[in-house]
Amino acid sequence: MSGLLLLCSVLSLWGAVCGRPGQYCADQPSGLEAFAGDSVTFPCSFVFPRTVTGITNVTIILHAGVGNYCGARIYNSGYGNTTQEYQGRVSLVGDPWTRNGAITLTNVTTSDVVRKYYCCRVRLLIPNKETEQWQNAGGTWLTVRGENEMTMHQPPFIPALVGDTVTIPCHFSISAKKKIQNMSLSSVQWSSSVFFPFCDTDIYNSATGAVHSKNKGRMSLAGEGGTFIQIKHVGLSDSDWYCCRAQVTGDGQVYRTETERGTHLIITGKTNEMKIEQPKEVTFPDSPTISCNYTLPENEDPLWVGIYWMFGDPREGFAYHPDPELIHPRYRGKTRLVGQSDLYLEEVNGMDNTSFYCRVAMRLCDSTATNHIETLLEEGTGTLLRVNGTRKQSQQSQQMDPVDGENADSAVPGGTISIFGPGPLTFFSKT
Ligand SMILES: *[C@@H]1O[C@H](CO)[C@@H](O)[C@H](O)[C@H]1NC(C)=O
Ligand SMILES: *[C@@H]1O[C@H](CO)[C@@H](O)[C@H](O)[C@H]1NC(C)=O
Ligand SMILES: *[C@@H]1O[C@H](CO)[C@@H](O)[C@H](O)[C@H]1NC(C)=O
Ligand SMILES: *[C@@H]1O[C@H](CO)[C@@H](O)[C@H](O)[C@H]1NC(C)=O
Ligand SMILES: *[C@@H]1O[C@H](CO)[C@@H](O)[C@H](O)[C@H]1NC(C)=O
Ligand SMILES: *[C@@H]1O[C@H](CO)[C@@H](O)[C@H](O)[C@H]1NC(C)=O
Ligand SMILES: *[C@@H]1O[C@H](CO)[C@@H](O)[C@H](O)[C@H]1NC(C)=O
Repeated sequence: MSGLLLLCSVLSLWGAVCGRPGQYCADQPSGLEAFAGDSVTFPCSFVFPRTVTGITNVTIILHAGVGNYCGARIYNSGYGNTTQEYQGRVSLVGDPWTRNGAITLTNVTTSDVVRKYYCCRVRLLIPNKETEQWQNAGGTWLTVRGENEMTMHQPPFIPALVGDTVTIPCHFSISAKKKIQNMSLSSVQWSSSVFFPFCDTDIYNSATGAVHSKNKGRMSLAGEGGTFIQIKHVGLSDSDWYCCRAQVTGDGQVYRTETERGTHLIITGKTNEMKIEQPKEVTFPDSPTISCNYTLPENEDPLWVGIYWMFGDPREGFAYHPDPELIHPRYRGKTRLVGQSDLYLEEVNGMDNTSFYCRVAMRLCDSTATNHIETLLEEGTGTLLRVNGTRKQSQQSQQMDPVDGENADSAVPGGTISIFGPGPLTFFSKT
């Protein structure tokens, strides 16, 4: 810790690289993986105090190297130039004016990982004033896999509340060049770490059935592919990093890979800073949408906002999640967000008297500590859904006789969509 502080103060002599306390942050995932020849995009969202005005240029600079602050500059979006090694391969894909500094590196090679970490630095040009610049200190660890390996993908972080059942996804893929016909998962292991994004303690092994004593009875594999891990009743002490390792057999050859940077599970207790508001009750299908409003911090822009809807007492699962795979099978394909955070629901069997809870997660730049990002997660008090019996009955009779002349225009064989009124039925799809 003191080493980091020292490094900060030294670097500050030639520019406020560390950012000053007061909401200068740049947020990046801790790791990314790709196959040699593929492209990777380093996400970078950043914030700075709203009191900083008169900005004429927002420049994103990519550094690559080992250790804190990632060493040497390899790209400058202001001039669009790179060092020789990265010639023609780096481009800005985000819009810095909307605080998005995402950068794409094409045709990654195994020599790109000699530098290991990629850091996003932001520079604001303000005429007649000192240039403001700051960057993410840790950077994104790049892993480039060869043709005989797999890539592993996990979300960089998952916010959850004390008592939740959490599912951490893990996806593997084998190089498209291999054209494998017959692939089967042989085993999955999960490991964790308290302080670092790379993991050192084995916590689950599907081959031996061994579970770390701390997690006995709480951990199991989940997901359609069987690689996800589910942890029941999480507590604050589960706020660790989780990494997945898998063995896969593809056309007789064994592939074995481990995530080099895991998922940070961030467990929080209940707070009420966002003042989430949702109605106490709604009647379905008269009102197929449940509204959810929340307050953003007064003088601060969040680095990231996530919206989720859970259902049940105790919570059974997600009625809506940005990752469709994490939506409970009962609601998958039947819900979407409308507006910023309202939940639109299609009819599902047995949802009468179910409560739906709006959840808002936020990444905020801590104004008291340098380069420190806080993750908040809050939940509304729940909306009880009542199904209008009168309507439900008439709907059922329609379904039984879909070509009943009188209701022909609203009768959709096998479905009841038309009674929910107008509105595009474009569901969220993973891109
Ligand atoms: C600032 O932006 C202007 C207009 O886009 C450009 O002409 C100029 O070169 C930029 N200056 C720097 C230092 O990036
Ligand atoms: C890009 O051009 C600027 C101005 O000529 C120079 O200072 C910088 O070193 C160049 N290279 C990179 C990678 O920024
Ligand atoms: C990608 O990099 C490899 C190795 O450096 C090179 O041989 C190849 O031509 C590059 N491909 C493209 C599309 O730039
Ligand atoms: C795929 O693998 C299974 C089990 O390893 C084997 O029984 C089956 O014959 C294989 N199919 C093909 C098309 O290779
Ligand atoms: C949320 O805000 C909208 C627009 O101001 C309002 O119509 C709606 O009633 C609000 N919902 C709740 C639950 O407060
Ligand atoms: C929902 O709750 C109401 C009032 O408590 C009750 O009359 C009704 O039977 C319940 N519906 C179902 C399907 O449980
Ligand atoms: C239930 O549906 C009937 C028939 O469409 C409608 O007249 C009534 O207003 C609805 N009740 C509620 C509470 O929305």
